[in-house]
Amino acid sequence: MLESILKRIEAEHAQESVWIVGPETGRLLHFLLRVVAPKIVVEIGTSVGYSALWMGSALGKNGSGKLWTIESHAQRFERARANIEEAGMGDWIHQVKGHAPEIFPELQLPGPVDFVFLDATKMEHQSYLEGLLPLLAPGAMIAVDNVESHRVGAMGAFVQGLHEDPRFEVVEIPVGSGLLIARATNEAD
Ligand SMILES: C[S@@+](CC[C@H](N)C(=O)[O-])C[C@H]1O[C@@H](n2cnc3c(N)ncnc32)[C@H](O)[C@@H]1O
Repeated sequence: MLESILKRIEAEHAQESVWIVGPETGRLLHFLLRVVAPKIVVEIGTSVGYSALWMGSALGKNGSGKLWTIESHAQRFERARANIEEAGMGDWIHQVKGHAPEIFPELQLPGPVDFVFLDATKMEHQSYLEGLLPLLAPGAMIAVDNVESHRVGAMGAFVQGLHEDPRFEVVEIPVGSGLLIARATNEAD
């Protein structure tokens, strides 16, 4: 069931301008969530729900954890709703309609955030990060897509800043459009 929904979205991506991370990055996000077993995940940039489904499927297998995914575009938000419902993940994927970071105070999260996936407007990533910092659990992970495809231009300063920020350990993985993973250091580090 999930596989057929993902394949359909991949076919839609090939035919129209629906942005998705693609299967390799989706599989990696799934793997990371299986390993980290986060309780609270926040995604910025749902689009039609492709990456949310990969992450949601990991949370479903984990048997715990919830995803809050934020999307500002009304039509994509509704398409994501249909896809998430079809996949039967509505109980643990919470869609939030609005613009990050202004919408953060309305998230009403039940605890600190363990895992973040940033995949929205590249020029706004710094503001997402600053808005999320007070919400992060010690040791939280932040995954950022497009660090390779958008390094020259929109993402350059943001990526460099993360590498130089002593509050994070950072790796980059050459998968898809380039995935950066930062881990917030905690007092014990
Ligand atoms: C690259 S797509 C996300 C793809 C999705 N993560 C996936 O792989 O299936 C980016 C999405 O972020 C949304 N977006 C851009 N800026 C936003 C913001 N500030 N707040 C919420 N959504 C935003 C856009 O409308 C777009 O649908």
